[in-house]
Amino acid sequence: METLHSTADLLGLLAEPSRVRLLALLAEHELTVNELTSITELGQSRVSTHLGKLREAGLVRDKRVGGSTFYSLSNGEMPGQARKLWQLVSGALDDEQLAADKQRCAAQLRARRAAARWPESVAGEMERHYSPGRTWEALAGGMIGLLRLGDVLDAGAGDGATAQLVAPRARTITCVDVSETLVDAARVRLAGHANARCRVADLQDLPFEDASFDQVLLLNVLPFLKQPGGALAETARVLRPGGTLALVTLGEHAHLDVTSAYGHVHAGFSPAAIRRLLGKTGLAVETCDVTSRERRAPYFQVVTAFAIKPPKQTHKKK
Ligand SMILES: C[S@@+](CC[C@H](N)C(=O)[O-])C[C@H]1O[C@@H](n2cnc3c(N)ncnc32)[C@H](O)[C@@H]1O
Repeated sequence: METLHSTADLLGLLAEPSRVRLLALLAEHELTVNELTSITELGQSRVSTHLGKLREAGLVRDKRVGGSTFYSLSNGEMPGQARKLWQLVSGALDDEQLAADKQRCAAQLRARRAAARWPESVAGEMERHYSPGRTWEALAGGMIGLLRLGDVLDAGAGDGATAQLVAPRARTITCVDVSETLVDAARVRLAGHANARCRVADLQDLPFEDASFDQVLLLNVLPFLKQPGGALAETARVLRPGGTLALVTLGEHAHLDVTSAYGHVHAGFSPAAIRRLLGKTGLAVETCDVTSRERRAPYFQVVTAFAIKPPKQTHKKK
């Protein structure tokens, strides 16, 4: 039985234009709070409050799909009196505001469909496109999870951004850089990693014993060096037999005018030049290739190389 109070409450609920706008939209489509907010241009908290009241009265229901909550009209489950009143109200509605909401809703649904197709829309070149949260750092963090590293030297570590990613997967990580400012920044960044240390040093003259590290990272440093051969010889020296060098550098180019603004003194390296330089150090080159090429002029390329320090020969007794 409907009481006077419940009828008055229901009438009160439907006497608010914003709530009628929400009901008219939800009568046609399942929508999230964010979508309703952007369609109606009402504040998000107002939309949520209205939806809460409508749900309480049984006019609206919600359902969770993945991380989102979708709202819709209760339809079949709506209490009889509410259904009758809503039918009366919705049948009489002919309003510019509601027509505009309908148009914005159509655009919102088109955007939702386009967003759902984002992976397909960038098929074959996903690495060149951003999507929320899918950053180089996030991807690198995920890939690094696969590694089990020993004692790592990050040679020319800058402010320790890479070392911070590597630290949880390494026995120890040592950052070396010629700049005191950057080493200080790396120390701050790595303060929470007990296995990390940072030192000011020149790659041409590393302050470490021979065979101190299992892995050496030499990332985006070679173009800064007047004598890259000397630094490579030093990294080879401090690697343990069987240890690995990972090298990333700008490829050979003719735009030192551009890159000198970043402190480069060398106009990049071809894979052949890197192979030659590594060959002189006694490291065995596993791979050395151009691994990426920018799409915009001047089409900078990146060369990546992996090299191994040959394991010590063991001589069997005759
Ligand atoms: C572009 S940053 C690369 C930082 C980091 N490896 C990365 O890829 O994000 C180059 C770094 O090499 C350092 N560097 C340049 N010459 C060096 C040298 N002779 N010895 C040690 N570090 C050097 C610079 O101070 C700078 O931090």
